[in-house]
Formats: sequence, structure tokens, C-alpha cells
Amino acid sequence: MRVLVTGGCGFIGSHFVRRLLERGDDVRVLDKLTYSGRRENLEDVDCELVVGDIADAEAVSRAASGCEAIVNFAAETHVDRSILGATDFGRTEFFGTQVLLEEVRRTGARYVQVSTDEVYGDLAGRGSAKETDPVEPSSPYSVAKAAGDLHVPAYVRTFGVDASITRGSNTYGPRQYPEKLVPLFVTNALDGEPLPVYGDGRQIRDWLHVEDHCTGIEFVLREGVAGEVYNVGGGNERENVEITRRIVELTGADPALVRHVTDRPGHDRRYSLDSSKLRALGWEPRRAFDDGLAETVAWYRDNRSWWEPIKSGEYLEYYRRQYAERLA
Ligand code: DAU
Repeated sequence: MRVLVTGGCGFIGSHFVRRLLERGDDVRVLDKLTYSGRRENLEDVDCELVVGDIADAEAVSRAASGCEAIVNFAAETHVDRSILGATDFGRTEFFGTQVLLEEVRRTGARYVQVSTDEVYGDLAGRGSAKETDPVEPSSPYSVAKAAGDLHVPAYVRTFGVDASITRGSNTYGPRQYPEKLVPLFVTNALDGEPLPVYGDGRQIRDWLHVEDHCTGIEFVLREGVAGEVYNVGGGNERENVEITRRIVELTGADPALVRHVTDRPGHDRRYSLDSSKLRALGWEPRRAFDDGLAETVAWYRDNRSWWEPIKSGEYLEYYRRQYAERLA
């Protein structure tokens, strides 16, 4: 199959591109190359890269030409950045998704919208979210994702397009931009820098290895039904303080680097997904969390040349805005 992967230079997208290529698919990537969309994430693979924005209909048309499917990873993804300023989030997530669906409406390509468990909102004191639950997003980021998702069933109903949604849980693994909890704490620990835990650190996330996330999305691409949503959860709920403790152990860092700092505004306490619908199609996560985290720490230890150049320029500016006061 010839597949257009939008946002294919980002963290999960670049793993997905590799997976499709291993499976013998023909892959083209459309990526705007923002701060986290990194050309080097695909430098060793054989696929065509079109540099452009999913909100630009001409770029989308050019990139999608001849493709039988589009899988959309393109997004502004960081909650803390959306709290500092959300304009780009609405443009990419809401308007960009609509542009892609217009293309799909015109060409008849299959479409998968890669979304997030955050659209279900805070599940503290509740069970696990099912696909039929309402969306109750809490941050500018998750509102933008939920808004983008809303286009999908509307386009299926109104225009009969072949489109599905995946909603994944917190994903970790190699090549994740070091603003997210795992890569930020691992790289800071390796450098002897503080690990800023928001609030009491008892918030719960459901951790999923990036390769397991990608196999889930691939199942939905190949077997998902139009108009349906599929949760892709790791079934592996942990408190942030536990993740932090494991990272300190695995890196051999000084436990005194752990600092409890001012909480994220509106911080959701818990996410949890019921993934039985996707499991019924035959998918299951294979990577045990302890092994996956240990391998991820080893990857960052062995690949300083990937992340050290990132921790300069724009990154340092963001880091200062997000953490300077918190760590003062
Ligand atoms: O759940 C899926 C989502 O996971 C994705 O949709 C998002 O794109 C992705 O960013 C991630 O969102 P989170 O906000 O859960 O991930 P993050 O790595 O930013 O934070 C994970 C937890 O760690 C959260 O409770 C906040 C906390 N945290 C994070 C950072 C960056 C800290 O305590 N300190 C930090 O410095």
C-alpha cells in the first residue's frame, strides 16, 4: 500500500514510518519540520519527504497524490506549551485535520486520525475510558485534539469517507523530544540537572511503548471500520513519582535531583483507557514496561548526539519559560 504519513518526522510518526517500510509498504511523509519534527529521525530510511503543513491544501494534495491511505500524526503535542500559548494547536489540530479530510473526500483514500486519551479528560476516581464515552478535554492541547477528532465522524456520515480514530495513551521510547516526562527526566538525570516533578507527583498515566502504539495504529489502518474510534492503551498505570524513581535508579543519578515544583495548571490526575475493542481485533502491547524503560534509558545514554544539539536555542528558551521560576 502507498501511505502518506503526516507528521512522520516526529516521535511516534517516525517509528510508524519505519514499521510500514519493514512491512513492505511504500511511504511518503509530509512534515512541517517544527521544533519536534526532525529530519534526522528519518535520515537512515528510504522514503520521500515533502516539507509542508497539513493546513496547506496545496501541500497536502501534492503529498497525497497516488496514496491509498493517510495516517495523521501531525500535531502540536505538548500540554505545557499549549498552556503558554495555544494558537498553533488550533490551526494544526482542527484546521489541519479538516484539510486532510477534504483531500480524503476528493481521493477516496483511507484515513486514520491519531489522537490521544487526553480527550476523555480526567478519570480520577473513575474507571477506564471507553470509545463511546464523551470527550471532556481539560487543556488547550486536548481541546484542540478533541476538536480535530470531531471532524472524522462528521466526514464519515456526511461524505461516506473511510476514516477511523485511534486514541493512544502516554507513549515513551527512543527519539522522543526531551520536553516530555520520560526523555526530559532521563536526559536531565544523565546531565545531573534537576527533575521537576509537578505538584505531589501522584498523577497517573498509562504508559505504552512506542512500538506497541505503532502496531495498534497499524491494526486500525488495515482493519479498522469507518467512523469507529479505537483506544490504544498500555494497560500500565503508574504514578509520576514511580516513573521518576525508576529513572533515578536506571541512570544512577543523585536522588536529590528530584524537585517537587509548582503544578501544571488544570493538571489531569489520571488517564486510563479500556482497549478491549482493539484487543478483540488481535492487538496487544508486547513490551513489558520495566524492560521498555530500561531500553529507553540506554538509548538516551548511547545517543547523546541525537539530543544534545536539541537542548539549545529554542529549547532553552522554552525551558526557561517553563521551569526557571519553578526551579528558582
Ligand atoms: O496521554 C497521551 C498524551 O501524553 C499525549 O497526547 C501528549 O501529546 C503527550 O504530551 C502526553 O501528555 P502528558 O501531559 O501526559 O505528558 P507529559 O510527558 O508532558 O507529562 C506526563 C506526566 O508527567 C504529567 O502528569 C505531567 C508530569 N510532568 C511532566 C513534565 C514535562 C512533570 O511532573 N514534570 C515535567 O517536567
